[in-house]
Amino acid sequence: MDQLIPEEIAHFLRERRSPKSDEEIDLFMETIVRHYHKPDRGAGLVGVGGSDAVTHYKDIKRVILEMDKVSKFTSRSAFVDFGSGPGFFPIYVALKHRIPCYGIESQPQSVELGRIYLKWAFLENLDLDPRTPDQWKEQDMKWNREHGPLVLFHASYFEVLRKDWIPHRSITHLVTYDAVYIPDAMNAIRRLVKPYAVTGATSKKNASFLPRTAIEQARIPSVRVGHSSFTFVIWKNEPGGDQGSSSEEENDTEPDKKTQKTSWLVWYISHDEALLATAEERFGAEWRAQVGTLLANHGLDIDKTILWLEGYRTTRRKGPDRHTMLPVINKS
Ligand SMILES: C[S@@+](CC[C@H](N)C(=O)[O-])C[C@H]1O[C@@H](n2cnc3c(N)ncnc32)[C@H](O)[C@@H]1O
Repeated sequence: MDQLIPEEIAHFLRERRSPKSDEEIDLFMETIVRHYHKPDRGAGLVGVGGSDAVTHYKDIKRVILEMDKVSKFTSRSAFVDFGSGPGFFPIYVALKHRIPCYGIESQPQSVELGRIYLKWAFLENLDLDPRTPDQWKEQDMKWNREHGPLVLFHASYFEVLRKDWIPHRSITHLVTYDAVYIPDAMNAIRRLVKPYAVTGATSKKNASFLPRTAIEQARIPSVRVGHSSFTFVIWKNEPGGDQGSSSEEENDTEPDKKTQKTSWLVWYISHDEALLATAEERFGAEWRAQVGTLLANHGLDIDKTILWLEGYRTTRRKGPDRHTMLPVINKS
């Protein structure tokens, strides 16, 4: 795929440097987003992805800002977008926070386009640790030797990533626009993330991907991806943390069923795999907060509420995501 660099941003390449200031980053990102939306250049060549499948740039900035408030991006952070399309999230985070960033994307043409954009951003030569300028070059070379370019796009499905992919890449922050994924893809991400302490941002519909050990931290309403808009939930996964505030451990003692109906029901649900899965699918990670209302809607009758939950069937997507039907290009 041959692409001519737009004149507005060509000087970065000529000067062999990446956009650095916020103004330069805005100029660069807005230009590649415009490029992507041209039918004869970006999304048009991707074909199946379509220009409607990317998060709006101003929303990318909002999501990353909120994540930064929850867990600061430092020079030791690393970022991944599971389902990165042409890579606007990883490119933006690499420019803004100067850290290793990755995108996993099953669509080969999107990956190819993303790699062109990151070349235009001269990302391979980004300095890794702003605190030690004398070591920058050395670190850059070391990084390149060991990992390749600073922003990496993998043409791959989440489903085939090795199970230690997250610690292998030292990932601390992740984004995934999971509202559009089939359950298999969501479960693959869940498996990858579950054991590790990471901060995530996921799109929220009725069901949202969140590891059970995650604690919801913030919500960003109306994040737009193409023509749809969703709430994005920022969460922190703290498996094995001694806070003990989120999860199963908390509910290990059975509350009194007569005097603490809501607590008892929360305890009961969290000890029943099927009910727990239903509650999480229906209400997301904050399902505990909904149990009181659910109970009240059933006349404070515990058995009726459980029966309702047992009978609840989540509405699944009718067919597989068109993207996930593509062949696996590269297992990493
Ligand atoms: C809605 S787009 C979001 C793109 C990008 N994250 C953004 O916000 O601009 C979702 C992307 O996920 C990719 N995708 C869907 N299922 C996948 C899977 N199982 N493995 C890898 N990529 C997948 C699609 O090809 C698509 O490009």
